[in-house]
Amino acid sequence: MSRGILVTGAAAGLGRAVARAFAERGERVAVHYNSNSADAEATLESLPGNGHVLVQGDITAEPQRIADTAEEALGGVDVLVNNAAVVTTTATAHPPAETTFEHWQQVWRDSVAVNLLGAADVTFCVARHMIERGARGHIVNVGSRGAFRGEPDHPAYGATKAALHAMGQSLAVSLAPHGISVASVAPGFIATERVADWLTGERGDALRAQSPFGRVAEPGEIADAIVYLAAPGSTWASGAILDLNGASYLRT
Ligand SMILES: NC(=O)c1ccc[n+]([C@@H]2O[C@H](COP(=O)([O-])OP(=O)(O)OC[C@H]3O[C@@H](n4cnc5c(N)ncnc54)[C@H](OP(=O)(O)O)[C@@H]3O)[C@@H](O)[C@H]2O)c1
Repeated sequence: MSRGILVTGAAAGLGRAVARAFAERGERVAVHYNSNSADAEATLESLPGNGHVLVQGDITAEPQRIADTAEEALGGVDVLVNNAAVVTTTATAHPPAETTFEHWQQVWRDSVAVNLLGAADVTFCVARHMIERGARGHIVNVGSRGAFRGEPDHPAYGATKAALHAMGQSLAVSLAPHGISVASVAPGFIATERVADWLTGERGDALRAQSPFGRVAEPGEIADAIVYLAAPGSTWASGAILDLNGASYLRT
């Protein structure tokens, strides 16, 4: 029996790889997106298997509608992957010595709204559906190595990813009595479309050199770990924060 999987921010990048990884295993996926409808439709069409759907919505504004739409379209969400985020781009960089206070405040507020509050609200709404159905569900948060290693040019990103990890640990305890597992992944640099230009020239060499493997992650490698954390046999990984950084940062 295939399961219903809701992946937020799945139009492109890691979210698309996660949607594909679940679809390849015969699961039915709700491909959630906010603004990128063209890529979301292309992702939906590229998925193997049947029963996949598109769900549009801003997770800061309509978490309940997003959860309800996915629940109804899939006949139940068994797995939620909190992947949508305000991410690290040139536009969102806010090193304190070089940015305006206005920009600093805007990026912090946007990052908290999406990376923490949006994920928390979607999680609440989906978890309540899981509890009502008696589903032994799985929730996987996409965090970041930056929560531990630091993000000097994107401190709001690092802080909100740390908060997301912490939320996952608390919810792992509160949802365990309902048979729901909650875990997080903390990836290092991933070669998604969004950051493709970062991988050229000296900057790319420096990023690859962070890992003793001499490369960055492929999205599929991270997606496979998320599939593992959402597998029926992985409940005992609930509460975990799984480092996926090619030994580029070893936390104690
Ligand atoms: N790439 C890396 O090196 C790396 C490393 C560690 C962790 N991560 C994490 O991996 C995840 C995916 O990143 P990515 O590199 O694949 O970037 P991405 O393609 O830009 O994915 C981010 C997604 O978040 C969605 N989103 C942003 N604000 C939203 C909102 N208010 N409501 C709903 N959706 C919203 C965007 O949807 P629309 O485009 O449809 O608006 C976008 O598809 C993020 O959580 C990121 O922090 C990435």
